[in-house]
Amino acid sequence: MKVAFIGFGVVGRGLAEILAANREINGFAFSTVAVSDLMRGTVCDPEGLDVQVLLDLAADPGTFEGHNSCRPDWDALQAIRECGADIIVEATPTDIVTGEPAMSHIRTALEGGKHVVTTNKGPVVLALNDLLELAAGHGVQFRYEGTVMSGTPVLNTARRFLAGAGMNRVRGILNGTTNYILCEMESGMSYADALKQAQVLGYAETVPDADVEGKDALGKVVILAKVLFGATLSVDEVPCTGITHIAPADIEAATAAGERWKLIGEVGREGDRVVGRVGPVRLPVGNPLAAVSGPTNAITFSTDLLGDVTIEGPGAGKEATGFALLSDMLEIARGLA
Ligand code: HSE
Repeated sequence: MKVAFIGFGVVGRGLAEILAANREINGFAFSTVAVSDLMRGTVCDPEGLDVQVLLDLAADPGTFEGHNSCRPDWDALQAIRECGADIIVEATPTDIVTGEPAMSHIRTALEGGKHVVTTNKGPVVLALNDLLELAAGHGVQFRYEGTVMSGTPVLNTARRFLAGAGMNRVRGILNGTTNYILCEMESGMSYADALKQAQVLGYAETVPDADVEGKDALGKVVILAKVLFGATLSVDEVPCTGITHIAPADIEAATAAGERWKLIGEVGREGDRVVGRVGPVRLPVGNPLAAVSGPTNAITFSTDLLGDVTIEGPGAGKEATGFALLSDMLEIARGLA
C-alpha cells in the first residue's frame, strides 16, 4: 500500500524508522510516496521514496530542500490530494481546542477516498463520529488506536474483546510524560529537569503544557468515554487538574506515608450519566497503578462479567507510537486482503 506522512516529528519518524527497517511486515509492503512537514517541507514521488534518505535529511540539515522529489510549493493539503497514497498518516501536533491543522488534513484525506491513521487526539476528541461517518461515506477507514496509550492496544482490545462485558468504569495512568516526571522527582530530580528529559526522550507533546496540566490525559478520557461508553463529553465538562502544583515536599510526604502520586484519568457511569475526571491522586504503594513507572501507562477496565481487567504498556515514545500507526495500517491492509 502507498503511504503518505503528514507531520514528520517524533511520531512520524518513529513509524518511518520501522518502515525503513522492514521491507515487508506481516506479509504487507508499505511504500512511502510523500512526506509533508511544516518545518521540513514536502517531498513526493508516486513511485516511492527512500525513507532512510528522508530520515537522514530530517535529522540533518532538517529540511527536504535539495531532495530531487522536493515540492517547494506544496503544502500538506496539496500533498494529500495529489500524492496518490492509499493511507494518510496524520502525525502533526495535537490541538484539542481547534483540532487543527489535523482536522483539515483528515477531512481532506477521507473526502478524497484515502484511509487515515492518526495518533492526533484533537480531531478524535472533537469530531470522532463525524469523521467515522465521513470515512464510511467514502468507503475508507479512519483509525486512531495510538491516541490512547500509544502502541499499547487499548481501544481495539476493549472495543472488540470486551464488547460483551458491560463496562462500569475505566481508570488509569494515561499520560507518559507526567508519570515519568513524578517518578524522577521521587528519585530526587527537579521538576524542570525531569520535564526537559521527557522532552528529549520524545514523550512530551510539542507544547508540554498539555501534559503537565492534564489536558493530554483529559483528551484521552474524552476518547475513552466515546469509544467505550458511547458518551460525548466535552473537554469543558471534565474536571481536570495537572501536576504543576506538586512540590518535592508533597512527593516526600507521600513517600513517608507509603504512597505515590499518580495522575489518574477516569471515566465511568454515575446513575444514568457518564462522567470523567483527571487529577493527581496519592495511591498506596500496594495499588497496582502505583507500581507503574516511567513513561509506562496502565488502564483498568471494571466490567460486570469479567471484573477488573488491567492493561499495562508503553504510553509514549517514538517507537511505541510509531508502532500504533503501524498496527492501524496493518488492520486496514488485512481488511482489504
Ligand atoms: N505526550 C503524551 C504522553 C504522548 O506523554 O503520554 C502520548 O499520547
